Amino acid sequence: MTAPANLSQLIAREIPSLIELRHDLHAHPEVGLCEKRTSALVMRELAACGIEHEGALAGGTGVIAHISGRNPDAVALRCDIDALPISEETGLPYTSRVQGVMHACGHDGHTAIMIGTARVLAAIARESLPPRGVTMLFQPAEESLGGASRMIDDGCLAGRLGPPVSEIFGLHGWPWLPLGAIGVRNGPLLAAGEFFTVTIKGRGSHAGWPHLSHDVIVAMAATITSLQTIVSRSTDPCDSVVVSVCRIRAGDALNVLPKDLVFEGTIRTLGGQARTRTMDRFREVIDLVARAHECTATISFDVGCPATVNDAAATDAVRRAAAQMGPTTLVEVVEPSMGGEDFAWYGQQVPASFFLIGLRPRDESSMPGLHHPAFDFNDDAIAVGVEAMCRLALEDR
Ligand code: NI
Repeated sequence: MTAPANLSQLIAREIPSLIELRHDLHAHPEVGLCEKRTSALVMRELAACGIEHEGALAGGTGVIAHISGRNPDAVALRCDIDALPISEETGLPYTSRVQGVMHACGHDGHTAIMIGTARVLAAIARESLPPRGVTMLFQPAEESLGGASRMIDDGCLAGRLGPPVSEIFGLHGWPWLPLGAIGVRNGPLLAAGEFFTVTIKGRGSHAGWPHLSHDVIVAMAATITSLQTIVSRSTDPCDSVVVSVCRIRAGDALNVLPKDLVFEGTIRTLGGQARTRTMDRFREVIDLVARAHECTATISFDVGCPATVNDAAATDAVRRAAAQMGPTTLVEVVEPSMGGEDFAWYGQQVPASFFLIGLRPRDESSMPGLHHPAFDFNDDAIAVGVEAMCRLALEDR
């Protein structure tokens, strides 16, 4: 069985209520691991279309759902449900009602797409079972709190509900592609990300007697400058590496040289040797430069995620789905993006493909990017996402 001939009609009849639902999610954003309302809404929707599901996963707010298939095999579809600690500046009627929190990455759109997919697949399955079981993951905490790993640890790929998953798909709304486009790429699509915290310790003193200090501010300035050479001098110019220092906390007074300080940021690579080499150079540069300034440095790395690497066969399935989607344009993404995505963890377990759906209105040359306070998911992309997910779920392979 492939998708039924009336798939577009089945999707079209859901769109008005999915848009309403998306606006409701947008107005009530919840940050990672706090998605209680969102999780309850998802479960209410799944119950309404009679889909077997289980909540309270991944620390409390993750949800898994399953529709049985004819074969003892399952394909998984994943969406992320969390928002970001950003103050919204869209001025929309359905703007965030939560101070300092907004859906600036479009996970409200992803959640609406997955609920739409669940509704349509449930309607189709009532007529005839899909070839494979379909497992749907509503994952919390994509934004750096380890939601994907938590879902995996809770057995979501291992047959917690339905058979073990043999392939997984995920999508992201993409403001840099026009509406109606589906972006695919074999191999690395998104970067591996690590978050670092560096503490430099020296000796504080009166600012007027700097010779009595081991000045951590000067050591930090030299360190951050030297870190720039990791990309410019230690990395093959054809490789993609980012080392960004994003936050510095140092000193309390204008006449005191502090005894310690902290700076933090992120390292992005496309995985493999570049990742190992960059991390090694990072440790080396920080240690040696700090010591040259009679200071000591300690580094801690926070749980990042590996590069999102797309399986060629799974990505071909996305290409086939896009080819059947009328006015949809398939875009072969040439360069990977240095953004990170914790979908990568699923791809370390089973063949996976993560694809992009265009959000930019066709008559606009640009729109606010992801994590921007004026970003809003494009409602017209919901139908594209639902159709792509349904076709991927229903393909007989
Ligand atoms: Ni996102």
